[in-house]
Amino acid sequence: MKIGILDSGVGGLSVLKEIHKCLRGAELHYVADSSWCPYGNKPGNIICERVTSIADYLLEQGAEILVIACNSATIHAVGSLRATYPLPVVGMEPAVKPASEITRSGVVGVLATEASIAGEKFHQLVNTHAKGVRVITQPCPRFVELVEAGNLDGPEAEDAIDEAIAPLLASNADVLVLGCTHYPFLRPVIERRIPDGVNLIDTGPAVAKRVASLLSGTPDLSKDSPEIHIETTGSLEQLNLLLPKLLPGMEATTSEAGF
Ligand code: DGL
Repeated sequence: MKIGILDSGVGGLSVLKEIHKCLRGAELHYVADSSWCPYGNKPGNIICERVTSIADYLLEQGAEILVIACNSATIHAVGSLRATYPLPVVGMEPAVKPASEITRSGVVGVLATEASIAGEKFHQLVNTHAKGVRVITQPCPRFVELVEAGNLDGPEAEDAIDEAIAPLLASNADVLVLGCTHYPFLRPVIERRIPDGVNLIDTGPAVAKRVASLLSGTPDLSKDSPEIHIETTGSLEQLNLLLPKLLPGMEATTSEAGF
C-alpha cells in the first residue's frame, strides 16, 4: 500500500513522521512543493490548481491513498480532489474543535496561514465547533520561512515565536492550535516560550490515526521495513541538508521532482 503525501514544502514531513510512527512498514511517497512555497499567501484557486497537478503525479506513481499534509491546501482543494479521485483523500484542518473542548479561559489562539484563515471553510469550522469560544487567529509566515531554512531554534526563531504568540497570550488564550504543518517543527521552542498551563495542539497525530484506520487489516504494515521517498520541486541539496534535522534517525531516498 503506497501513501502519497504532499505539502507546499517540508512542513508536511511533520505529518509523514506521525504516519510512519503508526504504520512502520507503509511505503510513503512525499512531494515537497518548495519552489512554490509558501502557499499561505496565494489565492485559493491557484493553490487548488497546483495541488491537483501534484496529486495527479502521486496517483500516476501508484499512490493508493492521498494525504494532503497541508492545512492551506486542504481548505482550498480537498473538496474538488475528493470529487475527482476514486481513492481516499485525507486532509487536515486547524484543530479548532479539540481546542474548544479543552479551553478553560474560553479563548483559543489559532496559528495558521492567511490562506487557511481566509477560507470560508475556516469560518464554518469556527461556527460549528467553537460555539461560545473566542477564536483569535494569527498568521505566522516567518515560521514557514524558518522551517524551510532549517532554522528550528535560536534567537531568530524565538523572536518570530514571541511576536506571533504575544497577542494571543495577551488575550488570555490558554490553548494554541498549530494550524500549519510547518509549525510542529518549532514546537520545542514554542513550548519554551509559553507559560505553564497553556496547551499546544497539533493535528498530525490525528491525521496519522485516520490513515491507519483506512489501512486496518492490510498485512505487513507493522514490520520495520519502510520505504520512504521524498521529492522536492525546490533544491535537492537543501532538502538533503534539512532531512537530518526534520526526520532524525529516519532513512529516506530523495530526488528532484520533474515538474
Ligand atoms: N504547511 C502548510 C499548511 O499546513 C502551508 C505553509 C505555506 O506554504 O504557507 O498550511
